[in-house]
Amino acid sequence: MKIASVVGARPQFIKISPLIRAIEEYNRLDSREKIEHLIIHTGQHYDYLMDRVFFEELGLPEPNYNLGVGSGSHNYQTAEILKRLEEVLLREKPDLVLVYGDTNSTLGGALAASKIRIPVGHVEAGLRSFNKNMAEEINRVITDHISDYLFCPTETAVKNLKREGIEKGVYLVGDVMYDAVLYSVEIAEKKRDDVLERISLKPKEYVLATIHRAENTDDTKRLFSIFSAFKMIASKGLKVVVPLHPRTKKSLHSLFQALEPLPSSLAIIDPLSYFEMLLIEKNARTILTDSGGVQKEAYWFRVPCVTLREETEWIETVESGWNRLAGCDPVQITELALDSWRGNEDFCSYGDGKASKRIVAILRQKL
Ligand code: UD1
Ligand code: UDP
Repeated sequence: MKIASVVGARPQFIKISPLIRAIEEYNRLDSREKIEHLIIHTGQHYDYLMDRVFFEELGLPEPNYNLGVGSGSHNYQTAEILKRLEEVLLREKPDLVLVYGDTNSTLGGALAASKIRIPVGHVEAGLRSFNKNMAEEINRVITDHISDYLFCPTETAVKNLKREGIEKGVYLVGDVMYDAVLYSVEIAEKKRDDVLERISLKPKEYVLATIHRAENTDDTKRLFSIFSAFKMIASKGLKVVVPLHPRTKKSLHSLFQALEPLPSSLAIIDPLSYFEMLLIEKNARTILTDSGGVQKEAYWFRVPCVTLREETEWIETVESGWNRLAGCDPVQITELALDSWRGNEDFCSYGDGKASKRIVAILRQKL
């Protein structure tokens, strides 16, 4: 059986890692028919700190193909993936293409495969923000509607699909990112235990902030409001550390003058490796973010999270009390960041860390 995984953006390198381990384990334990697993990198992310660092740190095999698509508009990126991926899929003829999450690489992978009648499996199916202004929402909805296997992380995701008439091929498996966190955090503690010291952070005495969503970075007013909040928090004596996504770096250029002077306790740094990021999240007093993955990691580490958006797909994190939605209002963000609150310690969602093994078992049985 031959499976091809299509990945291209930072969180997808993390999502694929437990799947690779589950396939390796399956191949070790079951000698009847091995699974051949191809990794096809679209090239959507390409900077060392957005790409290679994850392959190196997580010990991922080299991608079998890198389509080298790079940056561009949504349509450019998706169209280039379609063109370049079709060639590879026609040559390799996999039994299934697996796509992950909701990026342009997800949509490109799913569409390219389904058009040439290769079955598609969507990992992280059924998520909805109900906001079609987000490119990711369009990517998710279309990907779900053309997928043959829909691997859902939550009951909510299963219900979302049912509401859209999708019931066949739907499996509630849990969240592969939880698999990744459970596996990685202990290793991170051994391998990267110097990261707090390196960035001059003391456990539970700093706020971690990440921001990269197009809705925030491409709207100057929103981006200014959000960075004004970071400044306000830093000026109250709490250190704020911001590992900066390259998209945000680009957008911030034109704002730096308006934001000056920046307090010395606001540390804008390069993106972190996954292991470093897990430790910085775990030890944060509060996390401010518009990232999907980071909201969940905050919840898994039981760190209060303020989401810099008006809605979230990961509603369980809000229901648990660990995540609060603040949009881009600087006063609200600052108040929540300075407040000490906690959510429900016993709340349990997103599976048991075995989502990837379930996916492999289902595919083995069905294909
Ligand atoms: C993409 C995904 C988003 C996901 C995020 C994860 C889409 C529509 N968006 O957003 O859902 O949350 O990845 O991080 O697929 N850039 C670099 N170096 C890189 C990559 C990007 O400089 O290695 C810069 C380029 O200027 C590029 C911009 O960042 O134009 C945006 O990159 P892109 O991949 O289009 O979207 P992301 O914002 O990264
Ligand atoms: N992440 C990382 N380094 C960083 C920022 C994020 O390793 O500097 C990890 C983070 O821990 C999470 C994933 O990247 O596992 C989230 O990716 P991102 O925020 O880029 O995208 P999203 O989850 O919003 O799609």
